[in-house]
Amino acid sequence: MDFLTLFAIYMGVVLTCIALVCKYSGQQQTPFGVLFDALTKAVSPWTPLWLQSFTQRILHKLFHQRNSMFIFLHIFLEGMVYTEFTYEVFGFCRDMDTTLTSLSVPYILLVIKSWFFYLCINRDPGTVTKKRHAGQVQLYPYDKRLFHPGLCCPTCQLVKPARSKHCRVCNRCVQRFDHHCVWVNNCVGAQNTRYFLLYLLSVCAMAGDIALLTGDMLLHAVVRSGLLRARYVDDNGQQQEAGMLFVIQHLFLTFPRIVFMLGFLVFVFLLLASYAMFHFYLGVVNQTSNEWYKGRGHICQHCHPSPDHLCGPPASGQSKRWFYNRGVLKNLKEIFCPLSPVHKKDN
Ligand SMILES: *[C@@H]1O[C@H](CO)[C@@H](O)[C@H](O)[C@H]1NC(C)=O
Ligand SMILES: [Zn+2]
Ligand SMILES: [Zn+2]
Repeated sequence: MDFLTLFAIYMGVVLTCIALVCKYSGQQQTPFGVLFDALTKAVSPWTPLWLQSFTQRILHKLFHQRNSMFIFLHIFLEGMVYTEFTYEVFGFCRDMDTTLTSLSVPYILLVIKSWFFYLCINRDPGTVTKKRHAGQVQLYPYDKRLFHPGLCCPTCQLVKPARSKHCRVCNRCVQRFDHHCVWVNNCVGAQNTRYFLLYLLSVCAMAGDIALLTGDMLLHAVVRSGLLRARYVDDNGQQQEAGMLFVIQHLFLTFPRIVFMLGFLVFVFLLLASYAMFHFYLGVVNQTSNEWYKGRGHICQHCHPSPDHLCGPPASGQSKRWFYNRGVLKNLKEIFCPLSPVHKKDN
């Protein structure tokens, strides 16, 4: 019973994490943030000052400055999963007569994913520069609702084009700004949203495929072992059916690393699939995450008193979201063939 309690707690924690992350992903004030702040406040009287400033510096470096930490973490986790898959699951799968073709799919997906990952990291997201500024300002009209004409970015000293935002981490204004992604150490903007979407898709496919192969292998292992029909003698000397719980326990004990990897993959898959779905939804309705948050009245950085526009939560009777929806295909086309100021000039 001890084992099952632990297992139930493990599942509960994982599912709660998924639910919380799905609900609050990307929001400015998350329960994690609030909890973290409260914890820091509670602990601060007892921690030496040097430790406080040290943690602060590390957190600042991690989340508020460009750094490759998360790229390395990403590659490390991926390396662990692929090592485990190659050295353990692959062999078992071959024993279970899985074809080489289906076993090679994860490696093909890895190549595809790495290519998009590379593009996300290295492509310019659409930095607003002095040279391109004149064209960039004309790309989108100011809606006088989320984006107001004539506002200047104090850092870049340039008039902000509509749909752009100054990324504090990269210290530059980015055209059609979506968000700054720490995993690719780059902003997601006009020129690389397409790579970001394809990257998300390929990571999901990768995690999902390895999880399916692994799950299939474990299922075969269970069927082969005949555990489902097995019986055991309990403390009172009576015969009992082994049952499902017995099988799960057996799998945990026989293939601990594989089962752990499967749990991790399912977790990653659910998380990323919901995140990818959110981003595709935004793409389909021609919105950036930045506009999505602003539209909800969470942030309105451009609020200044002026009779001709509304800020904050929309007045009642108005639609809550502000879409520039010209149809799904046109919206997606704009992501996959982004408007570029240079291109416009040529025409
Ligand atoms: C997307 O929205 C912007 C305004 O934010 C608009 O100027 C643009 O034409 C829209 N694009 C499509 C394809 O609907
Ligand atoms: Zn700027
Ligand atoms: Zn950035």
